[in-house]
Amino acid sequence: MDKIAILTSGGDAPGMNAVIRAVVRTAIYYGIEVYGIKNGYEGLIDGEVEQLIESSVADIIQRGGTVLGTSRSERFITHEGFNQAIDVLKKYGINKVIVGGGDGSLRGAKKLSESGIDVVGIPLSIDNDLGFTDYSIGFFTAITTVTNAISNIRDTTESHGRANVVEVMGRDCGDIALYSGIAGGAENIIVPEKKYEISEIAKKAIVGKNRGKRHHIIIMAEGAGNSYEFAEKFEELTGIDTKVTILGYIQRGGSPSVVDRILGSTMGNVAVEHILKNTGGYVMSIREGSVKTYPIGDALKMENKFDEKLSEILKIISI
Ligand code: F6P
Repeated sequence: MDKIAILTSGGDAPGMNAVIRAVVRTAIYYGIEVYGIKNGYEGLIDGEVEQLIESSVADIIQRGGTVLGTSRSERFITHEGFNQAIDVLKKYGINKVIVGGGDGSLRGAKKLSESGIDVVGIPLSIDNDLGFTDYSIGFFTAITTVTNAISNIRDTTESHGRANVVEVMGRDCGDIALYSGIAGGAENIIVPEKKYEISEIAKKAIVGKNRGKRHHIIIMAEGAGNSYEFAEKFEELTGIDTKVTILGYIQRGGSPSVVDRILGSTMGNVAVEHILKNTGGYVMSIREGSVKTYPIGDALKMENKFDEKLSEILKIISI
């Protein structure tokens, strides 16, 4: 008899709870026992496993974070930690595991699948840095939070006639900066995927100022450099009073958007249906509006592409 477990791992993302709820309820629908593993791979190693029932996941779809808890586990990549995790799964008779998380977590899922456990990975990360899916769950909520913050920052920036460098998350990926930059009407974005000339950005700000513009918003992806150093140089070149806002963890929390709830519910449901019919390791993906699966090894080799067209649009409409 199959037994399924679910764990969430890495940085939490809004929509994790929608996934957990869908996985638990779908498994129960098919008459399968379902277990929740607390605190990601750390909890798996330590045997923090608990059977979940219908009501275990009641009233969670609207909540940010993850009710299972999460972690970044150094121990799981050690031989000893990994074997301990496998022993825990054996002890509970769990043969199928659903892992929700970003790149590092899905690499852990691949390792699990190579040891004979049936695994499905679900892309859950605010960063949207996974090449095998057009969007990761959590991204749309995060860019909405960032866009709302930009609107607030714009009010005060405009009132004072200043510039503001808004630093956003995303590791080596510029998608949070790009999408929220478009939605928030930013003048410039600085992302790890593209080279920039500070003199060009400064020139644009001076032209805008001479035309009567009273704000200049620059969205800087965390992986693209040091926001304070950039702001200092920008102020020197333009003479515009320049502030820095580092949005930090506010971007990761909050009630998931409708899109993230629907993506989470759909992927959670399809992941269980898939894992009951198939063996081997897979990931869920959304491509051109449809939910798809890819073998996990192939998926993790797919390169993440920066949207050059959207970046060009931002440049044209932000003069
Ligand atoms: O991967 C999600 C993310 O929020 C990144 O954007 C950020 O760089 C990182 O996690 C922060 O991780 P931690 O919670 O470990 O500080």
